[in-house]
Amino acid sequence: MPEIAYINGKFMPLEQATVSVEDRGYQFADAVYEVVRTYCGRPFALDEHLARLFRSLAAIQLEHSFTADNLKPLIVEAIQRAGFPETLVYLQISRGVAKRHRGFPTGHEPVFVLTARALPDTRHIREKGITVITVPDNRWGRCDIKSVGLLANVLAHHAAHQAGANDAVFVEADGAIAEATAANVFIIHNGTLLTPPEGPKILSGITRGKILEAARAAGIAAAERRVTKVELLGADEAFLSSTTAEVVPILAVDGHKIGAGPLAPRIYDQFIKMFAS
Ligand code: PDD
Repeated sequence: MPEIAYINGKFMPLEQATVSVEDRGYQFADAVYEVVRTYCGRPFALDEHLARLFRSLAAIQLEHSFTADNLKPLIVEAIQRAGFPETLVYLQISRGVAKRHRGFPTGHEPVFVLTARALPDTRHIREKGITVITVPDNRWGRCDIKSVGLLANVLAHHAAHQAGANDAVFVEADGAIAEATAANVFIIHNGTLLTPPEGPKILSGITRGKILEAARAAGIAAAERRVTKVELLGADEAFLSSTTAEVVPILAVDGHKIGAGPLAPRIYDQFIKMFAS
């Protein structure tokens, strides 16, 4: 069964999967999500993804009875049922289906949606690199929650495309960079890997954490600290990290060219060696 979904207890073909128009995720973006990929058919960093899912659920005070112990076998079963060489699993949990009202509904079950599809091949993007523009960060103050409320990200991504670039990097009013529309940002400056620290302005990417580990294992100094737009523009190298794209070199920022290699490919090779084989 290719491209499958699982909604509140039932597997089905993806095209048959529907949720109510009164789902609070649909009406209020009152929902959180995760995106998990496989390497060699096994879900990558599943414990970390589930820990972040439970942090997101707690942060929005969504009452539920999910546990890592019941979600893990379900995710593995979905991957097996879908049967792709490599799978992209999407999980979304909303506060349920209820009459449209701002207040938290009482006595309503959360709606749990899982989809499993073929992992898109992003090798060409990784090999070619991308260009980005910078945009003011006009998102809400809890970007650490993996909320489905991503309209500002969608609009920033569209602004990048209109400007002939591939993606956008959010910049705070004080000149610090946050992250891209669906990825974390790294720069290399004088041989040191730098990335903005965890906090409310970025999603703590699972790939980001593994990239920091891989860099250190490869003997490259790495630090989590404030990085400014000026530093990004003057970086020796820069790249984005995410579950789907892994490590993507940034070749230009607002039209200013940035060098490619040699450290980013070394970090990526180490990442693959440590986690993906
Ligand atoms: N997004 N920052 C944002 C805003 C993101 O949406 C993502 C990932 C990341 C990277 O996180 P991770 O390394 O855990 O994938 C950072 C997923 C892939 C998505 O929305 O599809």
